[in-house]
Amino acid sequence: MHSITQYQDYFKDYLATQKINRQPKSLYDPISYFLTLGGKRIRPILTLMTAEIFGADYKKALPAALAVEFFHNFSLIHDDIMDDAPLRRGHETVHEKWDINTGILSGDALLILAYQYFEQYEPAIFRNLAQLFSQTAIQVCEGQQWDVDFENNDQVTIPQYIKMIEYKTAVLVAAAMKMGGIIAQTSTENCDLIYDFGLNLGLAFQLQDDYLDAFGDPLTFGKQVGGDIIENKKTYLYLKALEFSTTAQREELSHLFSIKPADTTDKITSVKNVFIKTGASTATQEAIGDYTLKAFQTLEKLNISEDKKAILKKFGENLMNRKV
Ligand code: IPE
Ligand code: IPE
Ligand code: MG
Ligand code: MG
Ligand code: MG
Repeated sequence: MHSITQYQDYFKDYLATQKINRQPKSLYDPISYFLTLGGKRIRPILTLMTAEIFGADYKKALPAALAVEFFHNFSLIHDDIMDDAPLRRGHETVHEKWDINTGILSGDALLILAYQYFEQYEPAIFRNLAQLFSQTAIQVCEGQQWDVDFENNDQVTIPQYIKMIEYKTAVLVAAAMKMGGIIAQTSTENCDLIYDFGLNLGLAFQLQDDYLDAFGDPLTFGKQVGGDIIENKKTYLYLKALEFSTTAQREELSHLFSIKPADTTDKITSVKNVFIKTGASTATQEAIGDYTLKAFQTLEKLNISEDKKAILKKFGENLMNRKV
């Protein structure tokens, strides 16, 4: 096994060897731009780590890790169009720097490039990876559609929200890990357990993303703070605030989430105040802890050495405490 920073370096070096700058430049420049902005790269790191946890050399997992990261980046380019987001990883989003059409097609190309990386695997592994990837990709689309549909739905429940984030975010984290298991040709049981671990970690991860979207530090967060509030996103913060609110708070929140003012400063401040006063922000932090713990419990069932479990746990703890 290697350290988390080593896996980060291996992935970075591998990415640097890939020729992405082809013709036409207007298609590939935005892709290079976006990939150069980096990001945390948690999904590919998890693929590399998991492959080694189940006994394969991480090098064998590099193409799959890259495919997962390409897919993730494709989904972000399109997500930023859908969420009308100006900022990503501290820089302009693709559709802001170029235009919406560029974001659509560069995103599409990135998705196809992702698929191509699986072609490097032998038939049995290829088939399993491609099957998992396709299933995951369609779930991400379904989750993203729910996310957008919920903007105009004031009857969203917590179970519906959890299903939505499971699909838009958690399944990809889970699949990234299961791919490591598939490449290492470990047992179906191990593959299922590591998927379950990734799924719960992914749920915690999206809850944390929602939390940071409201309460992150604008200087370091890299995205527009308050973006979810501007877009009337039905996040855990919002749903819990409704649940815990007094009648007056409930009316205020419902009103704030029915408008899209030109100047959003006051709306963001007022909504955040309700999130804090109702106890929704505390409840969100508790939920992040709960799902992380649930992931750790799955870990206990896995038949791997204690030091390998410790690395996965460390990774989960880092995610839970992240500020970006
Ligand atoms: C952002 O993912 C989208 C979510 C699913 C929350 P990340 O927070 O992993 O984004 P980067 O890749 O590090 O920028
Ligand atoms: C994004 O969820 C999930 C996918 C891209 C599939 P968000 O919309 O919350 O992600 P951010 O906050 O823009 O990174
Ligand atoms: Mg978004
Ligand atoms: Mg979104
Ligand atoms: Mg978000």
